[in-house]
Amino acid sequence: MQTQAHPNPSQAGAMPPDPAPIMQTATGFMAAKHLFASSEAGLFEALADGPLPADQLAEKTGIPPATAEMSAGAMVALGLLELDGGRYRNSDAAAHFLAGRTPADLRPFLRFWGRLSWRVWTDFEDALCSGPAPLPPLGAEDTLIFADGVEAITAGAAHALAAQPEIAGARRLLDVAGGTGSFLAAAIAAHPGLEGTLVELPAVAAVAQEKLAGVPGATVQASDVLQSPLPHGHDVLLAANLVHLFAENQIRVLLAAMREAAEPGATLLIVDFWTDPTHTEPAMAALMAGEFYMYSGGDGRVYSDAEFRPWLSEAGWKPVEVRELAGPQSVLVATAVD
Ligand SMILES: C[S@@+](CC[C@H](N)C(=O)[O-])C[C@H]1O[C@@H](n2cnc3c(N)ncnc32)[C@H](O)[C@@H]1O
Repeated sequence: MQTQAHPNPSQAGAMPPDPAPIMQTATGFMAAKHLFASSEAGLFEALADGPLPADQLAEKTGIPPATAEMSAGAMVALGLLELDGGRYRNSDAAAHFLAGRTPADLRPFLRFWGRLSWRVWTDFEDALCSGPAPLPPLGAEDTLIFADGVEAITAGAAHALAAQPEIAGARRLLDVAGGTGSFLAAAIAAHPGLEGTLVELPAVAAVAQEKLAGVPGATVQASDVLQSPLPHGHDVLLAANLVHLFAENQIRVLLAAMREAAEPGATLLIVDFWTDPTHTEPAMAALMAGEFYMYSGGDGRVYSDAEFRPWLSEAGWKPVEVRELAGPQSVLVATAVD
């Protein structure tokens, strides 16, 4: 009798590969949701003054004891809390970023992803084939959640950018799609005397106007940067976390509009999750490509500086270099060709 080679190696006696990377990645959505909920419930804040047992943690946060223990247990499993002698304590990362005791507060970022991005990803499986459904415009409350979340996640990059020589040497900075002004405010705080203009869509511009009211030299203009000319008179032009929302044709329009508005010899700074040419590194950028795709109605994604270079040259910008800022964010530097 003849034996046939079996197509399944495990049945042929070889060890099957470990499914752990699949299981770990698939449970990632549960990990994220536990984290969003724990942060919203004030778990980390409740432990800011020191360790607590489960019943006192429940009492302080106002969550039922059983669910307080469930959330705290999940946070221990993820390394964000430690459990010692029946008392929970914040890990170093949770104490610094999630307990509300330092300026580096990442809770607004978690609220943004937990309240808004989560919903935006709901139909991601279908959107990969047929494109994302158009998103309804954000209401006033969600606009604030979005803006505060982006501000929290990009705070490190905003401060790192303010320390760059191009900002130190700038006279007037144009912040294109500047959100609520975190990059502009950080730049002016680091370099008193620097003036700046922030251009944004009307709903976000209204928030920026309020936030920048006390920042000397900062002005806000409401407009669509793809539809209206940009204001002139700036020697450094910044677009932070914008190009990942645009497709190639929109990027070409943007780069041409920025070049048209630029002073002779001006510098262009594009802050984003610049990737390697395969779009797989940094890992966070490869994942966030989905976020940008969904939020932008299918236009956005992550880019490598290599694919950007011809678009820059075509618009009259000479690419200089890409410099790391903070975490996965870096800045592409270019200068205006006269
Ligand atoms: C991810 S946020 C980045 C905000 C800010 N630059 C930062 O890095 O914190 C992208 C911003 O681009 C703005 N935006 C998108 N399309 C725009 C357009 N066509 N004109 C003006 N602003 C736009 C959005 O309103 C949003 O505030």
